[in-house]
Amino acid sequence: MSERIFIGVAWPYANSPLHLGQIAGAYLPPDIFARYHRARGNEVLMVSGSDQHGTPITIRAEQEGVTPAEIAGKYHRQFLESWQQLGIYFDLFTTTDNINHTEVAQDMFLTLLKKGYIYKKTVSQPFCDSCQRYLPDRYIEGVCPYCGYSGARGDQCDQCGQPLTPAELVEPRCGLCQASPDFKDSEHFFFKLSAFEGQLLEWIKQQNHWRNNVLNFTKSYLVAGLKDRAITRDINWGIPLPVDGYPGKRLYVWFEAVIGYLSASKEWARNTGNSEKWRDFWQGKAKSYYFIGKDNIPFHTIIWPAMLMGYGGLNLPYDVPANEFLTIEGRKLSSSRNWAVWLTDFLSRYDPDPLRYLLSVNMPETGDTDFSWREFVRRNNDELVATYGNLVQRVLTFSFRNFDGCLPSYTDMETCETQEPTQLEMDSLTVLKDVGEDISKCHFKFAIKKAMDLARKANRYLEEESPWKVLKNDRKAAARSIYVAACIINHLKTMFYPFLPFSSQRLHEFLGFSGSIEQDGWKLISPEPGQKLLPPEPLFTKLDESLIAEETARLG
Ligand code: MF3
Ligand code: ZN
Repeated sequence: MSERIFIGVAWPYANSPLHLGQIAGAYLPPDIFARYHRARGNEVLMVSGSDQHGTPITIRAEQEGVTPAEIAGKYHRQFLESWQQLGIYFDLFTTTDNINHTEVAQDMFLTLLKKGYIYKKTVSQPFCDSCQRYLPDRYIEGVCPYCGYSGARGDQCDQCGQPLTPAELVEPRCGLCQASPDFKDSEHFFFKLSAFEGQLLEWIKQQNHWRNNVLNFTKSYLVAGLKDRAITRDINWGIPLPVDGYPGKRLYVWFEAVIGYLSASKEWARNTGNSEKWRDFWQGKAKSYYFIGKDNIPFHTIIWPAMLMGYGGLNLPYDVPANEFLTIEGRKLSSSRNWAVWLTDFLSRYDPDPLRYLLSVNMPETGDTDFSWREFVRRNNDELVATYGNLVQRVLTFSFRNFDGCLPSYTDMETCETQEPTQLEMDSLTVLKDVGEDISKCHFKFAIKKAMDLARKANRYLEEESPWKVLKNDRKAAARSIYVAACIINHLKTMFYPFLPFSSQRLHEFLGFSGSIEQDGWKLISPEPGQKLLPPEPLFTKLDESLIAEETARLG
């Protein structure tokens, strides 16, 4: 029976280009997951968009001397292009700066207000005298009270991941001029997070299928006790409050960005021509998965669920498979120090599938993992080119040359005994099942390794059978083994498809199929004997070792 799966993907701030840490952490995993489920015939809705509000955007705009809207628009266009190039397919990748999102966010605010989960309170806010302005979130910096990191900001500590308020910062300073701020009274709206403590604890107890890191982080967060959170800011960029009398305030970016999952689903539904269709993915039996990096865990396992509980009638997250971090050449990734590999740079020089491959086999699922250029070259050359690519190349060229541009036909293979399926073909069936199960549990690393192991086995099979040696004396035996190998590469094409969509689709066509792999489903299909092939070309390209030094030199 087909399932309905909602996939929410973290909304990247539209204030800087994407780097590989984000791709490995939050963007590649949901694409793998979605491709698999679509191939299985499940109904998938995968949405995200640019996070265009808040101080991350305004600070960047001030630095560049342009408007926040210009910054956000520029990076939004870049994101769209990157998804296309990397093959990350969203049903909708929208933005938080549009009327639909504004309406949905304001409706959430008003509903929670009406139900008594939002209240007003006067709080003292940091105010910089020399800059003559309030200092929300990223406009204020200081020492983290939890881990002692000196570059913590008023919204969060990037070192330990703890969400913060400005008043918690030790030795606070203005992020614009470094002066030490005063505190002034300002009226703000608060979300009564504390009211959901009991409900959240009950709910978390049932989430035994969550990853350990996510579950532990969430539990310790809950056990520490929940504080109500200010959900408005003194800033003029963002969503206006849907109540009169607060012209200088906007909804806090974190309050409204998570609502993007819902507003994007509604926007998508309207685009399909059935504006109620979002309900299929938010109510009833649908399961929702949220793919994020570990720095976003509390927003998705505590705050967003609490908002949904308060609002009522919508599904809570089923799983939040947050990834850990990707280090670069053994060091913590840092955008400001340019210790990062930028996606657009990467894609301007290399193909998408080798990147998707490396980030999949090396995904930071249960702990941090490292990206190094040496590893990139090695995995590309040894695994994609020498193992999988070489297997494909040998099978296709041998068949193309010796069987007249086709796969061996029934007559070519004709035999007096009936043919039992080979061990390799039976293994293939098990691997397909295992790969699918692993992906459905978000164990991507295991999954892709199993597929590559099958390619290794297929290479050994081909060595043993050596059709190129027996061709002269026993053309039928050569035809049979090359046909078996062709079946296996056709299976590999399906197993690798969620990870390597571009090369899988090419292989699909080299093998003489048309249409998309996804339509053929998550099952083993054998090509017809005698099927016409396209002239084979290599699936992957060997990379020169010299790029390692070249690329490493670009860091820092
Ligand atoms: N923009 C945030 C970040 O880059 C993530 C927001 S995810 C959200 O860390 F959807 F929940 F908003
Ligand atoms: Zn200042």
